[in-house]
Amino acid sequence: MKKIFVTRPIPDSGIQYLKKQKDFEVIVRKKDTVISRRELLKSVKGMDAILSILTDKIDAEVLDAAGDQLKIVANYAVGFNNLDVKAAKKRNIILTNTPAPELSDAVADHAIGLMLALAHRIVEADQFTRHGKYKGWGPTLLMGTDLHKKTIGIIGMGRIGQAVAKRAAGFDIKVLYSSPRRASKKIEQACNAKKISLDTLLKKSDFVTIHVPLLPSTKYLIKAKQLKMMKKTAFIINTARGPIIKESALLHALRDGQIAGAGLDVFECEPLTHCDPRDHTYFRKMNNVIMTPHTASASMEARGSMSLIAAKNIAAVLKGKKPINPIFIN
Ligand code: DGY
Repeated sequence: MKKIFVTRPIPDSGIQYLKKQKDFEVIVRKKDTVISRRELLKSVKGMDAILSILTDKIDAEVLDAAGDQLKIVANYAVGFNNLDVKAAKKRNIILTNTPAPELSDAVADHAIGLMLALAHRIVEADQFTRHGKYKGWGPTLLMGTDLHKKTIGIIGMGRIGQAVAKRAAGFDIKVLYSSPRRASKKIEQACNAKKISLDTLLKKSDFVTIHVPLLPSTKYLIKAKQLKMMKKTAFIINTARGPIIKESALLHALRDGQIAGAGLDVFECEPLTHCDPRDHTYFRKMNNVIMTPHTASASMEARGSMSLIAAKNIAAVLKGKKPINPIFIN
């Protein structure tokens, strides 16, 4: 019997897939909370596979706690900054992620949603109406700005960046992007997209949206210097990973009116239960900041597909086959 530990309940598609396989025992942790370090170290003991989520730090200590039989850690996320790749390589443990097309689409939808919500002040307007402040139509009441015909700057033109660019085309938007690799001519033409340097992107864009993974090279990619380059009327959107923006610098930029607003789905410190509770108090008070709790990919379609992908990776590896989505090739 091969044992699989799932660190937190996930959509059923993947669990059912694993349960249908012969000789697999699937242990799904019941509590729908972030697993504590202590419980994680205890629970992985004797497992052949771990299905982890992005708040689980899977490092050498966890891999060793599992034991020599551990074959695979399947991360239920496309991002894998919570996994120690070096430690896994050293122990011949396979790591996989879930780059589902549905995830790219969901995150792109969310990024565009944040842009629209910021531009049209939708959250503010909802609060205003909800609190009974709407007394009648006003010529300048809650005036915002347009998204259509503006310039958006996409930092990172991978799967998700391209999904954003495709949507932007429908808004008659000019797309600037910075990326190590050039997108195909087809994408560039279809999306009215042009590759430029990060600095120029920051200077010219009305909406800057981040779609790069968190790596040592992208940590604090956006800090005071970069925020100062942006237009005073521009908005920044982050649906990638929190530490790509230095939050203290963003806070100052917003407070000093250096930029117009921010849409944040991710935060420098996640899970927030592990932070100083004062960390987000300032953002919470700002009308020009919209925050969502890392839910950009939280559509049934995306999360269901991620579940199945993670399961298929585990099943393949435990049956001695190649994983479908390896994070590295040994
Ligand atoms: C990912 O997959 O990396 C997202 O951030 C979570 O859905």
